[in-house]
Amino acid sequence: MDIQKLLNDKSDTWLIFDQKVSKKYDLVSDVISLRLYRRWCAALAEAIPRAPNQKLLDLACGTGLIPLAIHASHQDSSYEYTAVDLSEEMLSVFEDKLSGHELKAQVELLKEDATKMSVDSDRFDTVTMACGIRNVGDTSRGLAEILRVLKPGGAVYFLEPAIPKSSVLRSIFLGYFRHVVPAVAGLFSTADAYRYFNQSVESFPHSEGFIEMIEQAGFVRCEMKRLTLGAGALYVGYKPS
Ligand SMILES: C[S@@+](CC[C@H](N)C(=O)[O-])C[C@H]1O[C@@H](n2cnc3c(N)ncnc32)[C@H](O)[C@@H]1O
Repeated sequence: MDIQKLLNDKSDTWLIFDQKVSKKYDLVSDVISLRLYRRWCAALAEAIPRAPNQKLLDLACGTGLIPLAIHASHQDSSYEYTAVDLSEEMLSVFEDKLSGHELKAQVELLKEDATKMSVDSDRFDTVTMACGIRNVGDTSRGLAEILRVLKPGGAVYFLEPAIPKSSVLRSIFLGYFRHVVPAVAGLFSTADAYRYFNQSVESFPHSEGFIEMIEQAGFVRCEMKRLTLGAGALYVGYKPS
């Protein structure tokens, strides 16, 4: 795997998930994050205001951790979820989880590129994207597409790893991230995929840098909440009313 090439052009990163990661994605995520990622998904779900009949769109949905976390937290059968991913294999893991699940009837799965979707404009109350915007080929196009499909006043939530500010935490985090994560992930899955993971996190704007990026894309009232000593960040922005 040519990691530098993938970092320069992310159009094909979905293939890593499709071909190398899908079956073990949840397991590896739980192991390398010490199950913190599940807590971050729950934090995102809790941040979404409760309102009946919401239309929610989860982009780069992968194995469905975000829609499932929102459902676990809100338990609202009036919600309609649309979940988009380019990887058939990741979608099929999500589909397996939905089989026999009460959420199944509320979810529409779409195998589409999050940066050019077929869905109508001004359709969704809430868009979520966890560990997704960092992986799309054209970030600006992806953000413009989110603005297009949100209703005026609607909110987008992004969840991403971040790098802690304090120099001590930063060195611990980077050491773990650069050396331990690929080694441990390699026991279950492909170490290279997780080398791409740490390099993509380190090279993508996070914290204030990402806030600036979403403001420039046209979102307003953008805010960020640091998670787990700054190792993660939950961002929210709104489409102007
Ligand atoms: C790290 S996973 C995140 C999955 C899920 N959101 C989560 O939090 O566990 C990234 C996902 O982005 C998907 N992806 C990458 N590029 C995409 C694109 N342009 N459009 C839609 N999905 C994409 C991959 O297939 C993969 O499932």
